[in-house]
Amino acid sequence: MTTTSLPPAAHTRRRGDWWIPAGLLALTFVPAAAGAARLVDLSGGRTVENARFSDLPLPIIVHILGATTFCVLGAFQFMPSFRRRRPGWHRVSGRVLVPAGIAGALSGLWMAAFSDLPVYDNVALMWLRLLFGSLMVAGLVLGLVAIRRRDIASHQRWMARSYAVAQGAGTQALVLGPMVLVVDQPGGNLKAAGMGVAWLINLLVAEWLVRRSQGRGPGRPGQSSRRVW
Ligand code: HEM
Repeated sequence: MTTTSLPPAAHTRRRGDWWIPAGLLALTFVPAAAGAARLVDLSGGRTVENARFSDLPLPIIVHILGATTFCVLGAFQFMPSFRRRRPGWHRVSGRVLVPAGIAGALSGLWMAAFSDLPVYDNVALMWLRLLFGSLMVAGLVLGLVAIRRRDIASHQRWMARSYAVAQGAGTQALVLGPMVLVVDQPGGNLKAAGMGVAWLINLLVAEWLVRRSQGRGPGRPGQSSRRVW
């Protein structure tokens, strides 16, 4: 069926869900841009400011490339009309973004566990990173296991949770950004609380959206029951 022969409701649906990847890409813009800036900075050689990363660059490079690939490709997995038009894309993209997400999370866990604590971080934040980074890896593995069993509902739930954790980087920029206006540079417990709240907000929103979508059930005959949102 061509685009022009679609009934009006289908046109609306196609146009109507671009806000999903657009919103998710906007959310990931700040951490992705910070990552690109950090890679450019590292390519310029060692400085006092970047010594923490340039002395052992592999984890931060893997982290930035893996996490950014996961967040950018993942944004399109949640767009129902795109998945209906290109069913092969979801699978091919998934085969790239799952390893990218695992690499991004494991390298983040590695830095949290073994790098010196940055000046504005504290032990509470280190534990939060270990907790949410582990949740991201576990979610990806459980999501993969679920789809291999053809358990689509569990697959959707675990992938949405993992993606929500990864997008925590974007929400953290929104939560911590305004704090800069008040306290110059948030650190210690204030920074840890802001980061933790951002991860929780994302997980709650993802849980609500995925349950609401699955609660709608398969819908009308012929309508896909495999949409996420
Ligand atoms: C659970 C998910 C994540 C964990 C546990 C995590 C953990 C970490 C850790 C431990 C660091 C090093 C902090 C430091 O030593 O200053 C770091 C840095 C960084 N992360 Fe993540 N991260 C996560 C998700 C993401 C995502 C999704 C992105 C991008 C889309 C991202 C982008 C960055 C960037 C750009 C840096 C370097 C910051 C700088 O240049 O100072 N992270 N992350």
